[in-house]
Amino acid sequence: MSHAPVPIDRQTRVAALKSQFPKTLIGLPDVEIALSWAISSDRIDAAQLSYEIEASADSNFTSVLAATGVVDSPKQVSVRTPKLVAYSREIRYYRVKIQTEYGWTDWSESLTVEFGLLDASDYLAVFIGDSSPKFSPSPILRKEVILSNAPTKARLYVTSLGLNHFYINGIDTSNTFLNPGWTAYRHRLLVETHDVTHLLHEGVNALGAEISDGWWRGKLGFMNESALYGNEIGLFAQLEVAYSDGSSETFSTDTDWVSSNAEIVFSSIYDGSTIDFRNAKPGWKQPGFDASDWQNTSIVACNKHILAPRSTNPVRKVGEFALKVEPQADRSLLRGTQNISGWVRLVVDGKAGQTVVVRHAEVLEPGDKLHTKALRSAKATDTYILQTDGRHVLEPRFTFHGFQHADVVTEAEIVSAVAVAISSDNDRRSWFESSDYHLNRLHENVVWSQLDNFVSVPTDCPQRDERLGWTGDAQAFASTSNTLFNTNAFWNSWLQDLALEQFENGDVTAIVPDIFKTGEGQAIDGWIMEGRAGWADAATIIPLSLYEYFADEQVLSAQLESMRKWVGALLTRRGNEKFLPTQFQFGDWCDPDAPGDRPWEAKVSADYVANSFFAHSLDLLARAERLVGEKTAAESFESLSRALKADIWHQMGEAARLTTAGCSIALEFDIAPAEQRTALAQHLADMVKNDEGMITTGFLATPLVLHALSKNGHADAAYAMLMRRDFRSWLYAIDKGATSIWERWDAIREDGSIHTGAMDTEPDGQDDSSMISFNHYAYGAVVDWIYRNVAGIAPSLDGPGYQTAVIEPKPANGLTFAKAEIKSALGKWAIDWKLDPDQKLIVNLDVPFGAKAEVQLPAQGHSVVRCNGVEIGSSLTLTYGKYLLTVTDAAVITY
Ligand code: BGC
Repeated sequence: MSHAPVPIDRQTRVAALKSQFPKTLIGLPDVEIALSWAISSDRIDAAQLSYEIEASADSNFTSVLAATGVVDSPKQVSVRTPKLVAYSREIRYYRVKIQTEYGWTDWSESLTVEFGLLDASDYLAVFIGDSSPKFSPSPILRKEVILSNAPTKARLYVTSLGLNHFYINGIDTSNTFLNPGWTAYRHRLLVETHDVTHLLHEGVNALGAEISDGWWRGKLGFMNESALYGNEIGLFAQLEVAYSDGSSETFSTDTDWVSSNAEIVFSSIYDGSTIDFRNAKPGWKQPGFDASDWQNTSIVACNKHILAPRSTNPVRKVGEFALKVEPQADRSLLRGTQNISGWVRLVVDGKAGQTVVVRHAEVLEPGDKLHTKALRSAKATDTYILQTDGRHVLEPRFTFHGFQHADVVTEAEIVSAVAVAISSDNDRRSWFESSDYHLNRLHENVVWSQLDNFVSVPTDCPQRDERLGWTGDAQAFASTSNTLFNTNAFWNSWLQDLALEQFENGDVTAIVPDIFKTGEGQAIDGWIMEGRAGWADAATIIPLSLYEYFADEQVLSAQLESMRKWVGALLTRRGNEKFLPTQFQFGDWCDPDAPGDRPWEAKVSADYVANSFFAHSLDLLARAERLVGEKTAAESFESLSRALKADIWHQMGEAARLTTAGCSIALEFDIAPAEQRTALAQHLADMVKNDEGMITTGFLATPLVLHALSKNGHADAAYAMLMRRDFRSWLYAIDKGATSIWERWDAIREDGSIHTGAMDTEPDGQDDSSMISFNHYAYGAVVDWIYRNVAGIAPSLDGPGYQTAVIEPKPANGLTFAKAEIKSALGKWAIDWKLDPDQKLIVNLDVPFGAKAEVQLPAQGHSVVRCNGVEIGSSLTLTYGKYLLTVTDAAVITY
């Protein structure tokens, strides 16, 4: 008896199937694959009732490895796949189909997942180098290999101690930069996998690479140190080739490779690169090159246990901006329009032997001179020496600069100049626009500060001799970064390093990767960087933010131990006392009223801040325990937190009330008791209004203030801060021409002068270190508030990853429209609202399939609210569909 075929619902299909890893990345680590899919359907009332997932060893799904069978669940995001033990080099295919009330869909297109080398024993190659000391010309390394046939499949596994560019037959195998990126090198060095099948052919093929000091051996940190990870740089490459007859061959870096130097005579991340084209060795990357006078290479020792497959996007070019060339007496100014991380691509017409020197800066001093003081010891200078007469395209190697403008000293003629922006290539997920130019530019500036500071590691700034993964800045900005880009894999990778760098007692370091630690894992004398409030709490704050914005449960499981260790360290430090001992804290860093040379001396007490972050970390750990850990542990952390909060408020509440930072922390971290919240919020709003919206907080509290206000009925005060254009505000910087977010509110003062950045003023009046950056993302954290409140779309813990979104636009006077799009795993959310002159609010809302919108519209008593023409109340729940919502006589916030 044959079954009647189940009809397929062709009006519904699984449209975008993805894993937690970037789509183009191959060579993944052995992590359980979680799938998310979007559904497109013409059926507006359809809902997913069940799904089925298959994993197969072939793309036709003839060798199915595992299948879920029918699972009755509406879940579409971060869905766990059947457990499979991955093996090195495995290629696996996944597909999904779903059932709605209308039947099953067809199978989705398949998603290919390729694993990397998963075991230290898979790494057959050795690291090779040329034994040259630090700051030497970049070694170039080569070897020819003979292939018996054109390969059917070829993979290159490559990494380096230092940075590398790898070429096959003259072609760059990756078109990525700063490879393999910066990680906690003492524990974890990333191996990149490239599909190089198309680059190889039968016969002789040339393998070549350039390597450079990079983070491994170059200058790093503001203490002018170098060679922090080792004295030698080296290349590791393993080329695995398969032929159609089933045979295979592996070609590895070994001492048969030979080395020399070419045009890169110097390269440093901070200082720039010097390229002397007279030393170029044309053809060295090609087969047939005569390398008979090259030297032998030698083995560079490295424990292969630190090798780990790359799990996040590499650094790529992400944008270009034309620079205006303005000839001046002794140089040419290259005037830029956007502060970026990257370099200048210069086209010159010149003569052999001429030198071209390019310097970089974020801002110009009077007289259009580059302001380079802010770079501290970073030279940020690229130098080229031409080999031949004629036209040349010049780009530096193995470096990047944080800059908007540049100048060039040369006798050659400048034909054109372009600023090339680089970043870890995370996909953009959100867009925002409103009727207010300043707000739009602020949003754009935050996008750029994120791009500029997500260069392999989340850095404080991209220009001076720092560019370090400060954990405090990272936690402050994490939610905004997760709003704007698909940063999940990026943060997951960095959090692994955070855990690896954690001290044995659980203390989290202030920068990740940690260069304030000796090779033996001890803190460098005199620097108490670990375990500082608001910095170390990145360990708890960022994983929970990833859960909220991406529905990533795996990160909670992966980081649970690290979170427990950090909270354990706090509990130990407190001992039997009520509070943490008073110690140095960064505190509400860079409070604008703190003494210029002591940015840690904020108005709000550091003890209050430290204990409040302690309570907050207890809460976050409890939430993680409830989701993926132990319920009893969750309960005990919750009760510890409750008691601590009561003690904090009892003893320190009075003083905390005196500052906006103190009130905001009390409201956002739930320190103040429930019955006092209303009065406290009113008091905070009064303070803000008295200050006419002027910002009075630093790195830790600024991201909290607007939320503390708007969640407690004072969106007007929040708007007063957001929309302020006078000094000490977000928009002040826009009027001063900012194209990125500044480290200090007064980086450019009202009279146009540039902040000296004074930190330690010596008795002779000379300041020996300055701290002034025009590209620090921390204060950009306000963008999270803008999406949630101005556009009116927020993720919800009821359905994390925008499975459920809270739709609550808050129109304010002066704004006539706002709109936002957010690409979630379920598909695109879109909201736009406009306000008619007669106060009628018109909202268009697109809810993706499978998602839920909890809508709250700004109605007044007599307003009429309609959804697609039908009169309704102002609170409603909407599912998949496109909606037109209107509110007559809408409540408009005046500030
Ligand atoms: C960095 C900050 C960082 C701070 C902590 C500064 O030098 O640029 O962003 O968080 O130090 O001390």
